[in-house]
Parts: sequence; C-alpha cells; structure tokens
Amino acid sequence: MDDADEATLSRLASALSDADTAAALTGAGISAPSGVPTFRGEEGVWGTEFDPMDFRIGRFRRDPEGFWRDRLDLHDRLFPDGVEPNSAHEALASLEAAGLLDAVVTQNTDGLHAAAGSETVLELHGNAARVACVDCGATRPAEPVHERVRAAVEGEDGTDRELPPTCPDCGGVLKPDVVLFGESLPRRTFRRARDLAADSDVFLAIGSSLEVEPAASLPRRAAAGGTLAVVNLDSTAADKRADIRFRADVTDVLPALAARLDVR
Ligand code: APR
Ligand code: ZN
Repeated sequence: MDDADEATLSRLASALSDADTAAALTGAGISAPSGVPTFRGEEGVWGTEFDPMDFRIGRFRRDPEGFWRDRLDLHDRLFPDGVEPNSAHEALASLEAAGLLDAVVTQNTDGLHAAAGSETVLELHGNAARVACVDCGATRPAEPVHERVRAAVEGEDGTDRELPPTCPDCGGVLKPDVVLFGESLPRRTFRRARDLAADSDVFLAIGSSLEVEPAASLPRRAAAGGTLAVVNLDSTAADKRADIRFRADVTDVLPALAARLDVR
C-alpha cells in the first residue's frame, strides 16, 4: 500500500474507532479472491459467459425447465467446489467482533460472510445454498435439489426426471432462494439495511460496482449523513460521493484496516 493509501487508511481507522454506528455493503468483488467470479468488469460473467436476461423472474415463470438448466450452469460457475472465505471476509468479521462494525449488508448469495464468522449479515439478494417453493414458501438446502436437476439434465436412466424440481410438501415449483432480476428484495431485510445506512457514521462500500438498485441507493443514503468509504478495484457509481476511496484489492485494504485497529 503506498503512502497515500497509508494516510487514507489512518483516516478510515480513526473514523471507524470514533463511530457509534458503522456498516459495510459488499458485492461480488469481496468474494473474487475466494474464486467466485464477478458479474461486471473485465472478468465479469454477464455478457461473456451468461446473459442476465436468462435469469429474470419472467423467464423462470415462463420456462422453469430452461431456467433451471441455465441456473445450474451459472451456479456451478459462481460457486466452484471448495469456495472458502478470504482474509477480507475475515477482517470484517473481526471488526464486528471488536464492536467496530454493526453489520454486513451483502449483495452476495455465497454465504461467505457467515462462514467467516460475521454474525449480523443482511442478505439483500438471498442465499444460493437454499431453494424456496413458489407456492408454500418452504425453503430447503439447494444441493440435493441440484443433484436431482443435474441427473435429469444429464438424462441418467433410473432417476426421477424432475425438471423443474418440485416441492415435496405441496408440489409447487422450486426456485433458487435468491432475488432474480425483476423481483423485489426481501422487504424487512432491505428496510433494516436502509435504516442502517441512514444511521451509519461510517459506511463501507466494498467490492461492488454499485450499479444495481436498490442496493446502490444505500451508499448514497449513508453519504448524506456520514462518512462513505469505497474499496473497489474499478471506479464505482458512488465514487464522487465518497469521502474516502481505495482503488485497491479488498485483501490488501481490509486486513490492513483491521490490523491498524488492532483487531486481527
Ligand atoms: N478487490 C476489490 N474489488 C474487486 C476485486 C478485489 N479483489 N475483484 C473485483 N472487484 C470489483 C470489480 O472492480 C467490480 O467493480 O468488484 C466489483 C464487482 O462488481 P459486480 O461484478 O457488478 O458485482 P456486484 O456489484 O456485487 O453486482 C451486484 O448484480 O448481477 C447482479 O445480483 C447480482 O448481486 C449482484 C448485483
Ligand atoms: Zn411447497
């Protein structure tokens, strides 16, 4: 980290230690060092390997079988086997444990913040480790359902050709428990996130292009009354509002911030 970043780090560390309320909003960039691909930017999967239009709620309703074929490919690409939290996730968990961070609000559906030990995690876009029934709302682990869909797609004989997968309780179609394009966010979760952003003395926007609403409205809300810090490799839509900006890797900045605050 160069001297300018060192000075910026000191500013952020003192702002955090003085803050009554602090929160972080994270995006795909915080999981990139764990091997989870991002959606936009050079290596993003949207437009290069997958078309986001195939993952809209309208497509799921119109063509659940085709949706699930594509979803399985996307899931396997996003969450290769053995994905683990990285030092950036761990740094946020240690800031929370030290009482310096109240919550992580994440757009990610990979569950890595909880796996790293963060306790208060608001999952704005759901969690890909679960599926939900569109009729009765029951949720269940996704992996066994993925196995059944994989078997049906690969047409192995002797398996229950179940495509799209259905709910064992009521027969309704199962959907990944994530927010699809065109769907609204879980209302209570977003309201909590919005209030947290408004109350935060320090708000960290980490590893997100901040292009997708309504998550992208949170840093704007936070900047209105507190210190907004952005940590991202590329420029973001919130840069001009940021008081503190790192154009750097999350695994450089966040562990250094935690170390500066003696919470490693
Ligand atoms: N360190 C810091 N920033 C990084 C790193 C890294 N190691 N790797 C990638 N980035 C940055 C990229 O520069 C990029 O701007 O992370 C950002 C990720 O942006 P997106 O791919 O747009 O991901 P995100 O902002 O989380 O997307 C929001 O869009 O497609 C939907 O539902 C999906 O939750 C997702 C939402
Ligand atoms: Zn059901």
